[in-house]
Amino acid sequence: MVKNFLKYIKPSAKNKILFFLEYIYLIVINFLKLIIKKLSSIVPINYYENLMPYALNFQYFRKIKNIKIFNSREKLWEYAIDKIGSNKPILFMEFGTFEGYSIKYFAKKIQDQNSIFVGCDTFTGLPEKWNRMPKGMWDVDGNIPITNDNRIKFVKGKFQDTFDEINSYIDLNKNILFHFDADLYSSTLFLLTKLDFCKNYYAIFDEFTGHESRALYNYCQSFDAKVEFYGNTKGYANTPHRVFCKISKLN
Ligand SMILES: C[S@@+](CC[C@H](N)C(=O)[O-])C[C@H]1O[C@@H](n2cnc3c(N)ncnc32)[C@H](O)[C@@H]1O
Repeated sequence: MVKNFLKYIKPSAKNKILFFLEYIYLIVINFLKLIIKKLSSIVPINYYENLMPYALNFQYFRKIKNIKIFNSREKLWEYAIDKIGSNKPILFMEFGTFEGYSIKYFAKKIQDQNSIFVGCDTFTGLPEKWNRMPKGMWDVDGNIPITNDNRIKFVKGKFQDTFDEINSYIDLNKNILFHFDADLYSSTLFLLTKLDFCKNYYAIFDEFTGHESRALYNYCQSFDAKVEFYGNTKGYANTPHRVFCKISKLN
Protein backbone atom coordinates (compact mmCIF):
# COMPACT_ATOMS: atom_id res chain seq x y z
CA MET A 1 0.00 0.00 0.00
CA VAL A 2 2.80 2.41 0.96
CA LYS A 3 4.62 1.46 -2.28
CA ASN A 4 1.55 2.22 -4.42
CA PHE A 5 1.09 5.52 -2.71
CA LEU A 6 4.76 6.45 -3.22
CA LYS A 7 4.45 5.79 -6.99
CA TYR A 8 2.35 8.96 -7.39
CA ILE A 9 4.54 11.45 -5.54
CA LYS A 10 7.74 13.33 -6.48
CA PRO A 11 11.13 11.66 -5.69
CA SER A 12 12.15 14.41 -3.22
CA ALA A 13 8.85 14.05 -1.31
CA LYS A 14 9.22 10.27 -1.49
CA ASN A 15 12.57 10.48 0.34
CA LYS A 16 11.05 12.62 3.06
CA ILE A 17 8.20 10.15 3.60
CA LEU A 18 10.59 7.20 3.72
CA PHE A 19 12.79 9.02 6.17
CA PHE A 20 9.76 9.84 8.32
CA LEU A 21 8.52 6.22 8.28
CA GLU A 22 11.97 4.95 9.23
CA TYR A 23 12.10 7.47 12.06
CA ILE A 24 8.72 6.30 13.42
CA TYR A 25 9.82 2.66 13.07
CA LEU A 26 12.98 3.30 15.12
CA ILE A 27 11.04 5.12 17.83
CA VAL A 28 8.57 2.22 18.16
CA ILE A 29 11.31 -0.44 18.18
CA ASN A 30 13.40 1.39 20.77
CA PHE A 31 10.36 1.96 22.93
CA LEU A 32 9.51 -1.77 22.81
CA LYS A 33 13.13 -2.65 23.64
CA LEU A 34 13.02 -0.28 26.59
CA ILE A 35 9.84 -1.92 27.92
CA ILE A 36 11.36 -5.42 27.54
CA LYS A 37 14.54 -4.31 29.36
CA LYS A 38 12.57 -2.66 32.16
CA LEU A 39 10.41 -5.77 32.60
CA SER A 40 13.49 -8.04 32.48
CA SER A 41 15.17 -6.07 35.23
CA ILE A 42 12.45 -6.91 37.75
CA VAL A 43 12.36 -10.68 37.02
CA PRO A 44 14.10 -12.42 39.98
CA ILE A 45 17.64 -13.47 39.02
CA ASN A 46 17.03 -17.08 40.04
CA TYR A 47 14.32 -17.35 37.34
CA TYR A 48 16.97 -16.78 34.69
CA GLU A 49 19.36 -19.16 36.44
CA ASN A 50 16.71 -21.87 36.69
CA LEU A 51 15.64 -21.55 33.07
CA MET A 52 19.09 -21.32 31.58
CA PRO A 53 19.91 -25.07 31.86
CA TYR A 54 16.96 -25.86 29.56
CA ALA A 55 18.26 -23.42 26.95
CA LEU A 56 21.75 -24.89 27.37
CA ASN A 57 20.46 -28.42 26.74
CA PHE A 58 18.68 -27.26 23.61
CA GLN A 59 21.50 -25.12 22.26
CA TYR A 60 25.02 -25.40 23.71
CA PHE A 61 24.84 -29.02 24.89
CA ARG A 62 22.49 -30.24 22.13
CA LYS A 63 24.77 -33.20 21.27
CA ILE A 64 23.58 -34.90 24.47
CA LYS A 65 20.38 -35.90 22.70
CA ASN A 66 22.35 -38.32 20.50
CA ILE A 67 24.22 -40.21 23.23
CA LYS A 68 23.47 -43.45 25.07
CA ILE A 69 20.68 -43.46 27.64
CA PHE A 70 20.83 -45.59 30.80
CA ASN A 71 17.94 -46.30 33.11
CA SER A 72 19.91 -46.00 36.34
CA ARG A 73 22.93 -44.08 37.52
CA GLU A 74 24.67 -47.33 38.51
CA LYS A 75 24.39 -48.55 34.87
CA LEU A 76 25.86 -45.25 33.69
CA TRP A 77 28.71 -45.58 36.24
CA GLU A 78 29.50 -49.11 35.03
CA TYR A 79 29.51 -47.91 31.43
CA ALA A 80 31.93 -45.13 32.45
CA ILE A 81 34.28 -47.64 34.10
CA ASP A 82 34.25 -49.81 30.94
CA LYS A 83 34.79 -46.83 28.66
CA ILE A 84 37.77 -45.56 30.68
CA GLY A 85 39.34 -49.03 30.52
CA SER A 86 42.09 -50.53 32.60
CA ASN A 87 45.26 -49.59 30.70
CA LYS A 88 46.24 -47.39 33.69
CA PRO A 89 45.11 -47.14 37.31
CA ILE A 90 42.17 -44.82 37.91
CA LEU A 91 42.11 -41.74 40.09
CA PHE A 92 38.46 -41.40 41.08
CA MET A 93 37.78 -38.13 42.88
CA GLU A 94 34.35 -37.35 44.12
CA PHE A 95 33.11 -33.87 44.96
CA GLY A 96 30.09 -34.44 47.16
CA THR A 97 30.36 -37.74 49.03
CA PHE A 98 27.73 -37.62 51.78
CA GLU A 99 27.46 -41.15 53.27
CA GLY A 100 29.80 -42.65 50.69
CA TYR A 101 27.35 -44.65 48.58
CA SER A 102 28.81 -43.64 45.20
CA ILE A 103 32.50 -43.72 46.15
CA LYS A 104 32.09 -47.22 47.61
CA TYR A 105 30.21 -48.36 44.51
CA PHE A 106 33.09 -47.27 42.27
CA ALA A 107 35.71 -48.78 44.56
CA LYS A 108 33.85 -52.10 44.54
CA LYS A 109 33.62 -52.15 40.74
CA ILE A 110 37.24 -51.08 40.15
CA GLN A 111 39.35 -53.84 41.59
CA ASP A 112 42.77 -52.55 40.46
CA GLN A 113 44.89 -52.14 43.59
CA ASN A 114 46.76 -49.11 42.26
CA SER A 115 43.58 -47.14 41.70
CA ILE A 116 42.66 -44.56 44.29
CA PHE A 117 39.36 -43.07 45.40
CA VAL A 118 39.10 -39.70 47.10
CA GLY A 119 35.83 -38.44 48.57
CA CYS A 120 35.67 -34.70 49.24
CA ASP A 121 32.90 -33.13 51.27
CA THR A 122 32.24 -30.83 54.18
CA PHE A 123 30.44 -33.81 55.76
CA THR A 124 28.31 -31.14 57.41
CA GLY A 125 26.12 -30.67 54.37
CA LEU A 126 25.61 -28.07 51.69
CA PRO A 127 27.49 -24.83 52.42
CA GLU A 128 24.60 -22.82 50.95
CA LYS A 129 20.97 -23.25 49.94
CA TRP A 130 20.39 -25.19 46.70
CA ASN A 131 16.97 -24.70 45.08
CA ARG A 132 14.55 -25.89 47.77
CA MET A 133 17.24 -27.69 49.78
CA PRO A 134 18.41 -25.71 52.79
CA LYS A 135 22.00 -24.99 53.75
CA GLY A 136 23.25 -28.02 55.74
CA MET A 137 21.32 -30.58 53.68
CA TRP A 138 23.17 -33.96 53.64
CA ASP A 139 24.79 -33.26 56.99
CA VAL A 140 26.41 -36.36 58.48
CA ASP A 141 27.64 -34.58 61.61
CA GLY A 142 31.15 -34.31 60.23
CA ASN A 143 31.59 -38.11 60.14
CA ILE A 144 33.49 -39.53 57.19
CA PRO A 145 32.11 -42.81 55.75
CA ILE A 146 33.41 -46.03 57.28
CA THR A 147 35.32 -48.34 54.96
CA ASN A 148 37.96 -51.04 55.19
CA ASP A 149 39.18 -50.40 51.64
CA ASN A 150 42.50 -48.60 52.17
CA ARG A 151 42.42 -47.24 48.59
CA ILE A 152 39.59 -44.91 49.69
CA LYS A 153 40.62 -41.56 51.19
CA PHE A 154 38.61 -38.57 52.31
CA VAL A 155 39.18 -34.82 52.33
CA LYS A 156 36.96 -33.11 54.86
CA GLY A 157 35.98 -29.45 54.54
CA LYS A 158 34.71 -26.99 52.01
CA PHE A 159 36.43 -27.51 48.61
CA GLN A 160 37.32 -23.81 48.59
CA ASP A 161 39.28 -24.34 51.86
CA THR A 162 40.74 -27.78 51.19
CA PHE A 163 41.81 -27.44 47.59
CA ASP A 164 45.54 -27.85 48.41
CA GLU A 165 44.80 -31.20 50.02
CA ILE A 166 42.54 -32.19 47.09
CA ASN A 167 45.33 -31.18 44.71
CA SER A 168 47.87 -33.35 46.53
CA TYR A 169 45.99 -36.47 45.35
CA ILE A 170 45.93 -35.49 41.69
CA ASP A 171 48.15 -37.73 39.61
CA LEU A 172 48.10 -36.93 35.91
CA ASN A 173 49.63 -40.33 35.11
CA LYS A 174 46.40 -42.04 36.10
CA ASN A 175 43.13 -42.14 34.18
CA ILE A 176 41.19 -39.42 35.94
CA LEU A 177 37.47 -39.60 36.63
CA PHE A 178 35.95 -36.70 38.55
CA HIS A 179 32.49 -37.24 39.97
CA PHE A 180 30.87 -33.82 40.33
CA ASP A 181 28.05 -34.31 42.80
CA ALA A 182 28.07 -31.08 44.80
CA ASP A 183 24.85 -29.83 43.16
CA LEU A 184 25.75 -26.16 43.62
CA TYR A 185 26.85 -23.78 40.86
CA SER A 186 29.43 -22.13 43.13
CA SER A 187 31.04 -25.43 44.20
CA THR A 188 31.06 -26.91 40.68
CA LEU A 189 32.42 -23.81 38.97
CA PHE A 190 35.11 -23.45 41.62
CA LEU A 191 36.25 -27.03 41.02
CA LEU A 192 36.08 -26.91 37.23
CA THR A 193 38.27 -23.83 37.13
CA LYS A 194 40.76 -25.09 39.73
CA LEU A 195 41.01 -28.47 37.98
CA ASP A 196 41.59 -26.83 34.60
CA PHE A 197 45.27 -27.81 34.71
CA CYS A 198 44.27 -31.50 34.40
CA LYS A 199 43.48 -30.72 30.74
CA ASN A 200 42.02 -34.12 29.80
CA TYR A 201 39.80 -36.06 32.13
CA TYR A 202 36.56 -38.00 32.35
CA ALA A 203 33.72 -36.50 34.36
CA ILE A 204 30.32 -37.47 35.66
CA PHE A 205 27.83 -34.77 36.61
CA ASP A 206 25.13 -36.01 38.94
CA GLU A 207 22.62 -33.16 38.63
CA PHE A 208 23.43 -31.96 35.15
CA THR A 209 20.31 -29.98 34.20
CA GLY A 210 20.60 -27.30 36.84
CA HIS A 211 23.50 -25.57 38.52
CA GLU A 212 26.07 -28.04 37.20
CA SER A 213 25.38 -27.50 33.47
CA ARG A 214 25.48 -23.75 34.00
CA ALA A 215 28.85 -24.07 35.73
CA LEU A 216 30.18 -26.29 32.95
CA TYR A 217 29.01 -23.82 30.30
CA ASN A 218 30.65 -20.87 32.04
CA TYR A 219 33.85 -22.86 32.56
CA CYS A 220 34.00 -23.83 28.86
CA GLN A 221 33.44 -20.22 27.83
CA SER A 222 36.21 -18.89 30.06
CA PHE A 223 38.80 -21.63 29.65
CA ASP A 224 38.34 -22.72 26.05
CA ALA A 225 37.50 -26.27 27.05
CA LYS A 226 35.42 -28.74 25.09
CA VAL A 227 33.16 -31.51 26.26
CA GLU A 228 32.49 -34.82 24.57
CA PHE A 229 29.39 -36.56 25.88
CA TYR A 230 29.07 -40.35 26.10
CA GLY A 231 26.07 -41.36 28.17
CA ASN A 232 23.29 -40.06 30.38
CA THR A 233 20.27 -40.91 32.45
CA LYS A 234 17.09 -38.91 32.05
CA GLY A 235 15.35 -36.85 34.69
CA TYR A 236 12.50 -34.36 34.88
CA ALA A 237 10.89 -33.63 31.46
CA ASN A 238 13.30 -36.09 29.85
CA THR A 239 16.26 -33.77 30.46
CA PRO A 240 19.81 -35.11 31.05
CA HIS A 241 20.16 -35.97 34.72
CA ARG A 242 23.42 -37.85 35.23
CA VAL A 243 25.89 -37.25 32.43
CA PHE A 244 29.18 -38.97 31.62
CA CYS A 245 31.62 -37.04 29.43
CA LYS A 246 35.23 -36.16 28.70
CA ILE A 247 36.54 -32.66 29.23
CA SER A 248 39.54 -31.53 27.21
CA LYS A 249 41.38 -28.31 26.64
CA LEU A 250 41.60 -26.96 23.13
CA ASN A 251 45.15 -25.69 23.76
C1 LIG B 1 24.02 -34.95 46.82
S1 LIG B 1 25.21 -34.96 48.06
C2 LIG B 1 26.38 -36.18 47.49
C3 LIG B 1 25.80 -37.57 47.37
C4 LIG B 1 26.78 -38.71 47.15
N1 LIG B 1 27.67 -38.51 46.02
C5 LIG B 1 26.00 -39.99 46.96
O1 LIG B 1 25.80 -40.39 45.80
O2 LIG B 1 25.59 -40.57 47.93
C6 LIG B 1 26.02 -33.42 47.79
C7 LIG B 1 27.17 -33.15 48.73
O3 LIG B 1 27.95 -32.07 48.25
C8 LIG B 1 28.60 -31.47 49.36
N2 LIG B 1 29.09 -30.14 48.97
C9 LIG B 1 28.47 -29.23 48.17
N3 LIG B 1 29.26 -28.13 48.03
C10 LIG B 1 30.38 -28.37 48.75
C11 LIG B 1 31.58 -27.61 48.97
N4 LIG B 1 31.75 -26.39 48.45
N5 LIG B 1 32.54 -28.16 49.74
C12 LIG B 1 32.39 -29.39 50.25
N6 LIG B 1 31.27 -30.16 50.09
C13 LIG B 1 30.28 -29.65 49.34
C14 LIG B 1 27.50 -31.46 50.42
O4 LIG B 1 28.05 -31.42 51.71
C15 LIG B 1 26.75 -32.77 50.13
O5 LIG B 1 27.10 -33.80 51.01
